[in-house]
Amino acid sequence: MNLADLNKVARAMVAPGKGLLAADESSGTIKKRFDAIGVASTEETRRDYREMLFRSTEAMRSCISGVILYDETIWQDAKDDTPLIRIIEQSGAIPGIKVDEGTQALPQCPGELVTAGLDRLAERLAKYYERGARFAKWRAVIDIGARIPTMTAVHVNAHALARYAALCQAAQIVPIVEPEILMDGDHDIDRCYEVTQRVLNKTFQDLRVQRVALEGMILKPNMAISGKKSAKQASVEEVAEKTVRLLKACVPAAVPGIAFLSGGQSDADATAHLDAMNRIGGLPWPLTFSYGRALQAAPQQAWSGRPENVAAGQRAFTHRARMNSLAARGEWKADLEQKAA
Ligand code: 13P
Repeated sequence: MNLADLNKVARAMVAPGKGLLAADESSGTIKKRFDAIGVASTEETRRDYREMLFRSTEAMRSCISGVILYDETIWQDAKDDTPLIRIIEQSGAIPGIKVDEGTQALPQCPGELVTAGLDRLAERLAKYYERGARFAKWRAVIDIGARIPTMTAVHVNAHALARYAALCQAAQIVPIVEPEILMDGDHDIDRCYEVTQRVLNKTFQDLRVQRVALEGMILKPNMAISGKKSAKQASVEEVAEKTVRLLKACVPAAVPGIAFLSGGQSDADATAHLDAMNRIGGLPWPLTFSYGRALQAAPQQAWSGRPENVAAGQRAFTHRARMNSLAARGEWKADLEQKAA
């Protein structure tokens, strides 16, 4: 393992004003997104849609540091036979790959999940590296409920994240470590804070046990945020203040950067929260975005599967990418959204 090179890639992933595009929806998830806009999910429509994003030259050049791909996409060619991964590289962004294989029910823990995909991961990583991937992603899913998460769910998921991260570094690939605490419940922000703290502490403990070099990874956490069904919705300032406090308490300064997931927040909330955190300032790591839905909902809607809407889809993507790029610098303003509308 060459840690200096891993660190260089990790720092480039969180370069000032840049963040990650999570375009790594599994075939099941992208079908759900396409169903919502009335588009059939085929190999070709998935290709056309993602090609539209990756050819959004301005967004890709100035706002996007890297793209997380799904296995199908990393091997796919654009309409003109250029591999999609080369289009990303040509824009100056770094290609990455989702390597987890989704979740499975966790035995003896009703309703809880463990992420699968460690089998043959070393072989798969070698193939992805050869194809051009320089970072990877693994997502652990933790749900909040009356008696969950259990200690079991926190332990097995942290263990798997650390196993994955160690294998990535051995393959000269920067691991994005993503322990996602879902925002689906009716819990308040303080409960989210408490669970996220437990999960992050356990995850960093396991990363150390498995000798993962913190300088060669990126953390992709959720924010401290109210559950979607909570009657008590925290303000932008509270989310920013509590998330920053939480991360300072749990994330070592050796980590080169933190790139948040959007997790079902509205586009505007995801941007406003990131901006507010960066305005607090004085942090040991850059804070940026690694958004899926909060970057893609608007272009999906604008595109709606029609070739004549490609330019509109690219405009919508470029707008969200710009807004989040400003938020990554703490320079976003709400009226920029209205002006664009
Ligand atoms: P969302 O931003 O839609 O949560 O997706 C990010 C991601 O990559 C989840 O694993």
